Amino acid sequence: MVGAQWGDEGKGKITDLLSVSADVVVRYQGGINAGHTVCVGEQTFKLHLIPSGILYPETRCVIASGTVVDPKVLLEEIRHLEQLGISTKNLFIAETAHVTMPYHRLIDIAEEQRRGKNRIGTTGRGIGPTYADKSDRTGFRVLDLMQPEGFREKLEWIVPLKNVLLERLYNLPPLAVDQVAEQYLAYAEQLRPYIIDASLLIDQAVRTHRNILFEGAQGTLLDLDHGTYPYVTSSNPVAGGACVGAGVGPTIIDRVIGVAKAYTTRVGAGPFPTELRDEIGRHLGERGAEFGTTTGRPRRCGWFDAVIGRYAVRINGLDCLAITKLDVLDELESIKVCVAYHCPSKTVEEFPSDANLFGRCEPLYETLPGWKEPTGHCRTLEELPPKARDYLEFLAHQMKTPIALVSVGANREQTIIVEDPIHGPKRGLLGHNGD
Ligand code: IMP
Repeated sequence: MVGAQWGDEGKGKITDLLSVSADVVVRYQGGINAGHTVCVGEQTFKLHLIPSGILYPETRCVIASGTVVDPKVLLEEIRHLEQLGISTKNLFIAETAHVTMPYHRLIDIAEEQRRGKNRIGTTGRGIGPTYADKSDRTGFRVLDLMQPEGFREKLEWIVPLKNVLLERLYNLPPLAVDQVAEQYLAYAEQLRPYIIDASLLIDQAVRTHRNILFEGAQGTLLDLDHGTYPYVTSSNPVAGGACVGAGVGPTIIDRVIGVAKAYTTRVGAGPFPTELRDEIGRHLGERGAEFGTTTGRPRRCGWFDAVIGRYAVRINGLDCLAITKLDVLDELESIKVCVAYHCPSKTVEEFPSDANLFGRCEPLYETLPGWKEPTGHCRTLEELPPKARDYLEFLAHQMKTPIALVSVGANREQTIIVEDPIHGPKRGLLGHNGD
């Protein structure tokens, strides 16, 4: 399951629904930059790194190799769940995942300030610097924390290197090796029971025919390779990232589900052609409670962009879509969908790779009538107002991909199951039969 836009598509709720049928849920990339809000009854869970499958007592949840782990925050999350009576006995952390160190966070924040008007608008959680060190082969993996002597020795080498940056480039105080060692070795002891060879665990699940859900964080347009670079995150949220991040081959993945909001949002900087800086944008933000789960920043809001949608279908090989937050559009007189761009002298229907060019694209819209009645109570397509069904049909047609799920509210039961998202089509209910 992947995000088909810029993240925050409501994946938390969809993973939560899909987790019912999953024996194993795997987070394969990203770190605590992600935030999932899951509502169960009266309780709201805010999770950053732990898959929301943890709310199901029998589901195994894996934080796989492609993620980056901030041990302090992960331990807080574990404690938070345990306090709410949710067991973490089925939580597993890949020994090969990279670890966010104190200097990563400091450098992320300081570098954003230094970038000035070119800032990315990161979550400030040290994600980029952690992945940068991974590529640079100067990172610490979870398994390094489990070996105190070697860990300390490597710190003696790395911390002075980072202190040069902290002191000379960013005017920050240096870090002390002893302090970092003490802090992280204490975390290590608490994390030890959760550490495993994640690829092996997943392989065993494959061999015993278990259902495995690979849960993408962020979204397609934030992908390091395929997103709006440089306004992206530092990992690969796309479906292909699941193989690398989890340590499995592509042949084991049966279906790819893309999650998209019925409109579009983005946090952080970077081009966003369908952004609405007007009353309607504010209305979507308020009705959709569009504030980041991780940073609390207000999200930028805009119309649904079918060019991006088609791109997400291509890059991820989407089999079907889950459309979330349809109810947020309930009060609108009319609703626009971007179907192509004027970019800048010609019309294009495909997503341009150059973020500068993308930033100059003007959306070309089709306008559909709003339905102007509540949808939060609808549980079947037939119960939806006809104009809401037309809207969904239009989206499916634009993306040439069937819609399997429609979410009309935050709670589990506020969901319309159009077709089985896991086992796939009986196509044609709300979808495109592929001409
Ligand atoms: P980073 O991942 O903190 O480095 O931030 C890079 C970009 O990705 C920024 O624009 C962030 O706002 C965005 N981003 C990172 N994680 C999320 C997420 O979970 N949802 C939405 N945007 C995100």
